[in-house]
Amino acid sequence: MQKFLNKIICGDCIEVLGKIRKPFADLIFADPPFNIGYKYDKYNDRIKKKNYIAWTKDWMTVCKNLLKPRGSFYIAIGDDYAANVKIIADELGLFMRNWIIWHYTFGQQMKRKFSRSHTHIFYFVNDKDNFTFNDHAVRVPSDRQLIYNDSRANPAGKMPDDVWHEYSRVCGTFKERTGWHPCQMPESLLKRIIAASSNSEDWVLDPFSGSGTTPVTAAQLGRNYLGVEISNEYVENAKKRLAQLKKHKQADSFLNSTELNELKRLVVDIKKPVKQITADKNLLELFANQFALRMNNHKRYSKKEIVMALEGIAD
Ligand SMILES: C[S@@+](CC[C@H](N)C(=O)[O-])C[C@H]1O[C@@H](n2cnc3c(N)ncnc32)[C@H](O)[C@@H]1O
Repeated sequence: MQKFLNKIICGDCIEVLGKIRKPFADLIFADPPFNIGYKYDKYNDRIKKKNYIAWTKDWMTVCKNLLKPRGSFYIAIGDDYAANVKIIADELGLFMRNWIIWHYTFGQQMKRKFSRSHTHIFYFVNDKDNFTFNDHAVRVPSDRQLIYNDSRANPAGKMPDDVWHEYSRVCGTFKERTGWHPCQMPESLLKRIIAASSNSEDWVLDPFSGSGTTPVTAAQLGRNYLGVEISNEYVENAKKRLAQLKKHKQADSFLNSTELNELKRLVVDIKKPVKQITADKNLLELFANQFALRMNNHKRYSKKEIVMALEGIAD
């Protein structure tokens, strides 16, 4: 497996992954083309329905064969084929933990039907009793804590719902937008999945790595990755995106890069501007506690240090 360690390989995922014999993936995130006519560099995104379903079964089978016994398999898919993905997963012996709806908050405007504003994200596991799930790493402060100051609140925060509103689509004007890939997933969404369903140095596999969002976020969170992508142009650009990451590694903060990434992830999840978090004593206290719980590393973070780090990441 060493030759695949932290690589994005150019090729057809069924061919490339079909050659690997041993299950190695702790987590698989797959965001295949949805067969809705998107313009990709090397892939025709409008094929016959029955061919698309047969192909879906093929790549899901190859991926399932590479999933470790305690592994998790997330699949993003549009409305048209969500039911097929669920049926294929059942046939393959995967267990569904959640059928997540990613409400990406503003979709394309329609004239003769309601505007589409969501994507399905399936969360499957290989073994229904034995799998990695780091609840501490994804909990968020509850309304009882944030609004009502209610003493019955769980100090560890609450688990996010299975409808995700926090993560907007990566629109054309966003800093994160690469500009050369038609459907880039937001890094913050991937980070929630990776933080929940893998541990440091685990292997994260993405069979359709596109703009490289999964490799980039896996690297940021200290996981190993393997991405596969059919377009050479996307692979080369994604490698540049990864190289940029190394360049931007912050050396001037008391937090290491994993901690800084976790700090940014919590800012997104908590849905409050940095200025408000640093200015409101109670909110800052909640933020600092939640951050320490998510890090789970017995390190002490003073509020002053948290404020300095937050100010460092504010735009
Ligand atoms: C929906 S996009 C993935 C976007 C990705 N999640 C991101 O954040 O950038 C699907 C990608 O699958 C690639 N693709 C299509 N068929 C493929 C195949 N057989 N093997 C590998 N990649 C493929 C397309 O070129 C496209 O970049």
